[in-house]
Amino acid sequence: MRVLVYGMGNQGSLLAHTLVNGGNDVTVLARGERAEQFKEKGIVIRHFIQRKTTIDKVKVITELEARDRYDVIFVVMKYSDFKSVLPVLAVNETQNILLVGNNFNPAEMKAYMKSNSINEKNMAFGFQMSGGKKDKDRITVLRTNAGEMVLGALGEKIEFQSMLEAIFAKTKYKLSFQDDIDAWFKNHIIYVLPLNLAHFIKDYDYRSVGKDNALLKEVVKAMHEGFDLLVDLGYHNIPKGQANFATKHEYLNFLFYKLYHFTPMVKQSESSFIEIKAFYDELYKLKAASGFKTPSLDKLVKQAEKKYLLNK
Ligand SMILES: NC(=O)c1ccc[n+]([C@@H]2O[C@H](COP(=O)([O-])OP(=O)(O)OC[C@H]3O[C@@H](n4cnc5c(N)ncnc54)[C@H](OP(=O)(O)O)[C@@H]3O)[C@@H](O)[C@H]2O)c1
Repeated sequence: MRVLVYGMGNQGSLLAHTLVNGGNDVTVLARGERAEQFKEKGIVIRHFIQRKTTIDKVKVITELEARDRYDVIFVVMKYSDFKSVLPVLAVNETQNILLVGNNFNPAEMKAYMKSNSINEKNMAFGFQMSGGKKDKDRITVLRTNAGEMVLGALGEKIEFQSMLEAIFAKTKYKLSFQDDIDAWFKNHIIYVLPLNLAHFIKDYDYRSVGKDNALLKEVVKAMHEGFDLLVDLGYHNIPKGQANFATKHEYLNFLFYKLYHFTPMVKQSESSFIEIKAFYDELYKLKAASGFKTPSLDKLVKQAEKKYLLNK
């Protein structure tokens, strides 16, 4: 199949590598220096756990023209960047679009595309279950299996599901279809938000986060509050086990995160405060309507916000 990966950071690079392995005709869209690197050297990925480096040669473009048509476009970027590319996708002829990445408001993006597209679009939303970071000349990827994506189309069947299954058929990459992808995303954001706030507060000094018991206790309490807040707002906790563990075993959760900060894994994933800020801004808009109290989350947000304003 003819596919485009639009957004070539950590997650996009691993996806492009998988799509090449699956025998697809892969083009990637990247910008500036990174586009030049991909053209000259290919996509260089260090697979941290597997201790191997792969290089994939692909076609590279730097802009999407209205007439460039693909079977599927995978848009892989930060939540805070999606909005900048929706107008470009709306005037492109491709019908099947999968937005991959944390997403607080997929319904709003779907509505935008419905109102602004030149043709009928089939929109789906996914999240790739891997970590990674960008170095100057390569991407480091953290994955425990061949890769997995949780995906859905907001309660509807993905119109191009069989095409996606064909695209990944020759790989071991797993597609996990999820009916309520909106609730899944919101739960995932609750899962990652408090820890990412702590990392920002401590300048990404992971050992210092690991040593700060008071901060880690606040993190696990904030996570617990967040899962309860979602229920209060009418969302299911999906996956249930994730929320159950966080809400019923705060101390074990605390121990897990404490140990995690002393492993080499913690340094292999990257987050961006701008994306995290977009999540809590949206979450607090929802929370305002409920009156539900989240003192630990509020405390972390306040500290991070103070630091953000000071650094600005
Ligand atoms: N990194 C992780 O460990 C991890 C783990 C799980 C999930 N996620 C989630 O996966 C999503 C993607 O994360 P990521 O780490 O892959 O992000 P990333 O490294 O920031 O990659 C996104 C890429 O999209 C490109 N991009 C942004 N706006 C663009 C535009 N208008 N036109 C063309 N390219 C554009 C960026 O290009 P430039 O390089 O030119 O800025 C960047 O290379 C996020 O929601 C993230 O939270 C990340």
